[in-house]
Amino acid sequence: MQLNLAILPGDGIGPEIVEVALNVTKAVAEKFGHTLSYEYALVGACAIDKTGAPYPDATHALCMKSDAVLFGAIGDPKYDNNPSAKVRPEQGLLKMRKDLGLFANIRPVSTFASLLHKSPLRADLVDGADFMCIRELTGGMYFGRPQGRSEDGNTAYDTCVYTREEVERILHLAFKFAGQRRKKVTVVDKANVIATSRLWRQIAQEIAPQYPDIETEYMFVDNAAMRIIQWPKSFDVLVTENLFGDILTDEASVITGSLGMLPSASIGIHTSVFEPIHGSYPQAAGKNIANPLATVLSAALMFEYAFNLMEEGSLIRKAVNASLEADFVTEDICSNGQPRTTTEVGEWLVKYIQG
Ligand code: IPM
Ligand code: MN
Repeated sequence: MQLNLAILPGDGIGPEIVEVALNVTKAVAEKFGHTLSYEYALVGACAIDKTGAPYPDATHALCMKSDAVLFGAIGDPKYDNNPSAKVRPEQGLLKMRKDLGLFANIRPVSTFASLLHKSPLRADLVDGADFMCIRELTGGMYFGRPQGRSEDGNTAYDTCVYTREEVERILHLAFKFAGQRRKKVTVVDKANVIATSRLWRQIAQEIAPQYPDIETEYMFVDNAAMRIIQWPKSFDVLVTENLFGDILTDEASVITGSLGMLPSASIGIHTSVFEPIHGSYPQAAGKNIANPLATVLSAALMFEYAFNLMEEGSLIRKAVNASLEADFVTEDICSNGQPRTTTEVGEWLVKYIQG
């Protein structure tokens, strides 16, 4: 099979972790006889520095003609500390989501036996937790307008908007994923207070009967925030709107024991993007210490979701599990006191795959 990729390393540790994921992708492609071609493009603070735009047209054009996008991270402290900057790296991410129609962000949460002791939660609570957060990604408060400030600067406002079409699309996706899993969907909203949430719940109640083998559960977001920590094993597929999903998925990442382990796939109308859920970790940039595994696991999702190549995806997962068991990992998850560098972990994974 021919695999055409756009490679968007972005900022901070992005280039280092994407290189590892790309090397792993190359090794898997070679092993299974696929032809890989790829091109690099700019996004984020580095794109602003070089072109003035956080998601340049050339980057968009490359993404549009690629089968899948492998993405690192964006963000730079020089923008975080300057709230009045007119152009910000995050705008590039939002523009990419909107322009590529990345409506569903899939964040699988599962545990790794050898990392259970890293979780701040009790091992018996998290051991075996395995659920999937589906976060709506191109609507809600992130994109609703009007957004801004009153003339005197003393009042600010955001608008949360959802259309029936947007809600139906993501709910159908959630029910379909649940059909391939343990057949349970939890629709998370704040329907007791918020109008868009009431639309979500109404549409979910209309759609649920079309999936009679799936159990549908409705949960308010505040309650969900508690249940994710208290009883993570009760979830199978959790679906929610953009801002709730942003918050709940960071929370869910602690179950794993490290934010450096969680991959994601953003399913798009035009093409899909695969990226770790963690950010650009600027303190570690250039030090060759960042954990590349979330990005490597994102490459596994890429094989599975973008190309329907399941064996390839599971070989990557197997390699990651083997490196965890061998404790051949970076400092954030290392137990034996001998942390490996980002590139060493990458080389180990490539050897395992070639093996
Ligand atoms: C994420 C990030 C982004 C978001 C930021 C960087 C805009 O936190 O992908 O979860 O809020 O969506
Ligand atoms: Mn986030």
